[in-house]
Amino acid sequence: MAFKTRVFSGMQPTGSLHLGNYLGAMVNWIRMQDEHECIYCVVDLHAITVWQDPAELRAAIRGVTAAYIAAGLDPKKSILFNQSQVPEHAELAWVFNCVARLGWLNRMTQFKEKAGKDRENASVGLYAYPNLMAADILAYRATHVPVGEDQKQHLELARDIAQKFNNDFRKEIVAQGYADGNFFPQPDPVITGPATRVMSLRDGTKKMSKSDPSDLSRINITDDADTVARKIQKAKTDPEPLPSEQAGFAGRPEAENLVGIYAALTGQNVPQVLGEFGGQQFSIFKKALAEVATQTMGRIGAEAKRLSADPGYIDSVLADGTRRARAIATPIMDEVKDIVGLLRA
Ligand code: TYM
Repeated sequence: MAFKTRVFSGMQPTGSLHLGNYLGAMVNWIRMQDEHECIYCVVDLHAITVWQDPAELRAAIRGVTAAYIAAGLDPKKSILFNQSQVPEHAELAWVFNCVARLGWLNRMTQFKEKAGKDRENASVGLYAYPNLMAADILAYRATHVPVGEDQKQHLELARDIAQKFNNDFRKEIVAQGYADGNFFPQPDPVITGPATRVMSLRDGTKKMSKSDPSDLSRINITDDADTVARKIQKAKTDPEPLPSEQAGFAGRPEAENLVGIYAALTGQNVPQVLGEFGGQQFSIFKKALAEVATQTMGRIGAEAKRLSADPGYIDSVLADGTRRARAIATPIMDEVKDIVGLLRA
């Protein structure tokens, strides 16, 4: 069957969002909401795969929702909700725990990074994390998933799970009226733009991340204008002027990162930025970068703060999103139960 185009993506409510989240994923979320049916989730069940203080988690779920809206997601156009309010995510994840193979999960590099040396002490949830992510997407039979580069391997796993489910249950799927035997689509990753992998401002070989102990490594949407400008001024660079061509980035990851960020913030591509700044000193380029970063992040941060002052409004957006999300996910989960051979209520 031809699957209806449907977009799904999510972010973890762990701390505040940063420039990597915004440029790597959210810019595409915002763009896509004008063309497609879009479902954007605050993935709180993923957050608890590592310890979260309950009061901070509660605040972060609302805070990330406020940031979604502040960045430009329109709760009338897109469905905005938090994962734990739609029980189909956890339900389908269990079915996928029984479809995915241990060998597949053993290959997940993010688990290896997050569990570190003390693997025995990692939660089972952290290990099964990618199965829940596949369930997030496939509970809506979503076809497109805009994410940053670091989620690529998880998306490949989601595709493998969809395919194995279709293969394992093909006879039932056909009997349920799907002539080609495909109940789940294979979701396509949407990883595009000049900043699909934003790097740390302190080390151009490390990803910008919420968990980096150095706050100077990232720009948070909660940072004020002075902080943003100071972080960019302190960002690691090298003594050479900016190159005039992309080939000139060889061995200069920090330069490449800052130019990518500038391109993404100004809606240009990297050659255009190098056309303007190639041959110039970083001191000049950093001033221009600080200006555009302060403008964008400052605007989002101020609006998120304003929205966060009204938790009643945020909760009403989530309640409306939950209702609309469940209207899609419940019938799909009912069909999954029929296909697998479970009796539904
Ligand atoms: P999370 O919460 O770590 O990140 C949210 C989004 O931001 C992107 N991102 C980045 N992009 C570019 N450069 C960076 N430095 C950077 N850091 C983060 C991520 O790629 C992601 O798109 N597992 C997911 C959340 C998730 C999900 C899903 C995503 C759960 N279920 C279903 C899509 C579909 C995660 O931990 O993202």
